[in-house]
Amino acid sequence: LVLIAALSTLRSSQPCAHEAGPQYDSSGQLKLPLGFANWIFVGSNLGLGYASHFEANTPLEMQRPSSQTFHNIYIDPDAYAAFIKTGIFPNGTVLIMAVYAAADKEPRGIVDKGYFNGAALEIEAAVKNAKRPDGKSTDWAYYAFPNLPTPADPQPVASAFDDAQCYACHRLHASTDNVWVQFYPILRDRQPLSPGAQTEGNRP
Ligand code: HEC
Repeated sequence: LVLIAALSTLRSSQPCAHEAGPQYDSSGQLKLPLGFANWIFVGSNLGLGYASHFEANTPLEMQRPSSQTFHNIYIDPDAYAAFIKTGIFPNGTVLIMAVYAAADKEPRGIVDKGYFNGAALEIEAAVKNAKRPDGKSTDWAYYAFPNLPTPADPQPVASAFDDAQCYACHRLHASTDNVWVQFYPILRDRQPLSPGAQTEGNRP
């Protein structure tokens, strides 16, 4: 018994490699979850532009460019498992949208049609948190990380946008609790997880 108690103390005192939910700095800014590429990939689209009258409150630099870009969307594994089971995004859900230029030319000249993910342009995040550390009361907060980090850079942080800039359009037009499930096939279809599916342990 003493051994078990000692072992469990040891376990719980080790830092948790898979800490759940969004991580913030001391001033309440969101830390970019650097390992999101290991999360669940829910969908991608090419060149979705938003009808201009819906963009009235969006900062100019954040309006979708008329040039084509890919949006690749990921969800953290715990939120994914909960959503597939219940249809509800739990508190602490994080979704990442990685934006890439749509490139059509590569140096070897092998492709002559179609587009692939070219230069990485930006990362955006949507976070559900009923107790936001920045003191705001809306449950979903939106962030952008325009300068993509290199491994040597410190972990980037970002403050949330005002609700009018991002939240409002998501609230009104996204199909499920602020998330555009209508565009993400694996959330839209909600196939049950197979027994033994590994959704945990993928966190950075
Ligand atoms: C005019 C409507 C509109 C506004 C304003 C808007 N978005 Fe979105 N957003 C969308 C649509 C449509 C999608 C669906 C996927 C896509 O665009 O690729 C989306 C998807 C996202 C996603 C992927 C996760 C999700 O919630 O589905 C993130 C992250 C995101 N937006 C961040 C932002 C940020 C940051 C802002 C504010 C600077 C913002 N959005 C403003 C329409 C909007």
